[in-house]
Amino acid sequence: MILVTGATGNVGRQVVSHLRDQGAAFRALARDPGAAGLPGGTEVVAGDLSDPGSLHAALDGVDTVFLVWPFLDTEAAPAVLDAVGKHARRIVYLSMLGAQEDTGGQADPITSFHSRMERLIERSGLEWTFLHPVGFASNTLGWAQQVRDESVVRDLNGALARPLIHERDIAAVAAHVLTAPDDVHSGAEYVLTGPALVTQAEQAHAIGEAIGRPVRFEEMPEEEKRRQVLAWLPPSGLDTVMKAWAAMAESPEPVTATVEDLTGTPPRTFREWAADHAADFR
Ligand SMILES: NC(=O)c1ccc[n+]([C@@H]2O[C@H](COP(=O)([O-])OP(=O)(O)OC[C@H]3O[C@@H](n4cnc5c(N)ncnc54)[C@H](OP(=O)(O)O)[C@@H]3O)[C@@H](O)[C@H]2O)c1
Repeated sequence: MILVTGATGNVGRQVVSHLRDQGAAFRALARDPGAAGLPGGTEVVAGDLSDPGSLHAALDGVDTVFLVWPFLDTEAAPAVLDAVGKHARRIVYLSMLGAQEDTGGQADPITSFHSRMERLIERSGLEWTFLHPVGFASNTLGWAQQVRDESVVRDLNGALARPLIHERDIAAVAAHVLTAPDDVHSGAEYVLTGPALVTQAEQAHAIGEAIGRPVRFEEMPEEEKRRQVLAWLPPSGLDTVMKAWAAMAESPEPVTATVEDLTGTPPRTFREWAADHAADFR
């Protein structure tokens, strides 16, 4: 039995879909099962990762956990891992690219908390597999309102190229690992990327193609971007996040073959992602 956390989110929802297709035994965790909107017949159980005591019913009889960590710190993690360890044997953790590197404490706050989560999981006694995806293509849904209203994408640096990954490809790898025979992926760290580097200006163009009208890219002043970031990140992390983006422009993220190596299917292009999500931008 597999427990899928984050089951109503970008990746977890797709993990649910893959596990259903495979006929795997699983249940999905949601804070409000009634509002989860998962396909009929999915067993959805209530639980809150900020309240480890609420997880025991969901974990009953569970062998493997797909863990999505929705917080920006690891405060609740030891107690959650303790609860998981009382029931399950292994964990597949949705981490991020860079969390595996020792940056001597210089990483941005998001990479840092994923690194700390990984160290806690390694020490938990559970068998583990870490997924290290690059940025999600679904982050560009943040542009949806401007595209709908003005057919424009306003952001920093149209030339910034990234191998953004489709959430379905992360989920395909996760489902593959979650349903693999014991130990095959134990201790593995998989860097997951899309098939090619695509600039932000090209992403805007691809969204335009998907919705059938041109979408132009407009450079955003750095000060405006800093204000936007502060909507979701504490001020103490702002400079390191801005520096991380600047470094990415100088030295782009790698493109790996891991999705195809593990699932037998090449990762989807950004154009395919845009076509799948055209309705969000129309
Ligand atoms: N975006 C990127 O580019 C990127 C790249 C690499 C890694 N990541 C990592 O991916 C993770 C996010 O994945 P995602 O985009 O699939 O998620 P998401 O769409 O942001 O959804 C968040 C999920 O977390 C659940 N959740 C929130 N608070 C919870 C709580 N207190 N207890 C239990 N569940 C809770 C929500 O479920 P309910 O509200 O239904 O309970 C929802 O299913 C983060 O850890 C992020 O750092 C993101």
